[in-house]
Amino acid sequence: MNLPDWWKIDPCEPFVLGPREFPGRIWTASGCFAYGLTGHEISSRGFTSPYEGLGAVVSKTVTPMARTGNPMPRLCELPTGALNSIGLENVGFDEFLASVLPELERRGVPTVVSLAATRPDEFGVMVAALQMAGADYEHWHGVEINLSCPNVAEGGHDFGRDPETVARCVAAARKALPDRALLAKLTPNVADIASLAKAAAESGADAVSVINTVVGLEVDLTSGRPVLPRRYGGYSGPGVLPIALAKVDEIVQKAGVPVVGVGGIGGAQDALKFFALGAEAVQVGTAQMEDPFAAARIAADLSG
Ligand SMILES: Cc1cc2nc3c(=O)[nH]c(=O)nc-3n(C[C@H](O)[C@H](O)[C@H](O)COP(=O)(O)O)c2cc1C
Repeated sequence: MNLPDWWKIDPCEPFVLGPREFPGRIWTASGCFAYGLTGHEISSRGFTSPYEGLGAVVSKTVTPMARTGNPMPRLCELPTGALNSIGLENVGFDEFLASVLPELERRGVPTVVSLAATRPDEFGVMVAALQMAGADYEHWHGVEINLSCPNVAEGGHDFGRDPETVARCVAAARKALPDRALLAKLTPNVADIASLAKAAAESGADAVSVINTVVGLEVDLTSGRPVLPRRYGGYSGPGVLPIALAKVDEIVQKAGVPVVGVGGIGGAQDALKFFALGAEAVQVGTAQMEDPFAAARIAADLSG
């Protein structure tokens, strides 16, 4: 592929984020490539595995207790992307620590662990346990705290909507994470994302991951009712690309905080747009569910 003249980076070369060196800048996004343990045995034209050239896999968000997720249907395809309401189905933190993380290490998958909690201080407790379990792990590079989940202790609103709560979550995690990267994943469903990014950085985040899904709704015209049992879902895929670019730009311009760009990336050109705005790395989400080699192809295309 023809790369623009301004593009001087090889995204498959190591780069430093906070206290950690990552093997590359093209990552997969949380929830869109399971835990990073699937697909190792498949190959595709020119690729021996979907993990080739990846800088990190952000694992599916894990919560303190296992969750079965929301009732079906919970994923709806749209002409411009997808609407999901998975409800954070996951194996639970203990099982993740006991089985999933050691297997990721054994397979050499560069990993960022995504965590959700029910109270700000719980992030600290989870990160401390992770730090103990993974102290010697070479391929575990960081933690992404998912702030787009309900804060049960404080009224059920997303943690990520209030700068003070963001600060408390990040500070609790940072205290327990001395030598791995700490990322705060922000919701786009707010008026002033730059203030949230600033609060995260000032409390110790090395970068913010932007964006999580956009609130959306689809109507089934046969029944006249919303398709998803919980009415609203998270919109992702090509249709959110301009929203993600605008949110990243707002953060870079107004807050000057390092950003990992995510939202609507389907190919190398989309990824380049985030880098043009100053992103340190990018994550591929919905596209990875359609084609497990999407991120690997982008990494190959951008390394020239
Ligand atoms: C099916 C599905 C599940 C997701 N699960 C998570 C999750 O567990 N944690 C999280 O932080 N983001 C989750 N996301 C959001 C993605 O990581 C990403 O931020 C969002 O989809 C925008 O990127 P995309 O347009 O490339 O998909 C999920 C997205 C989808 C489509």
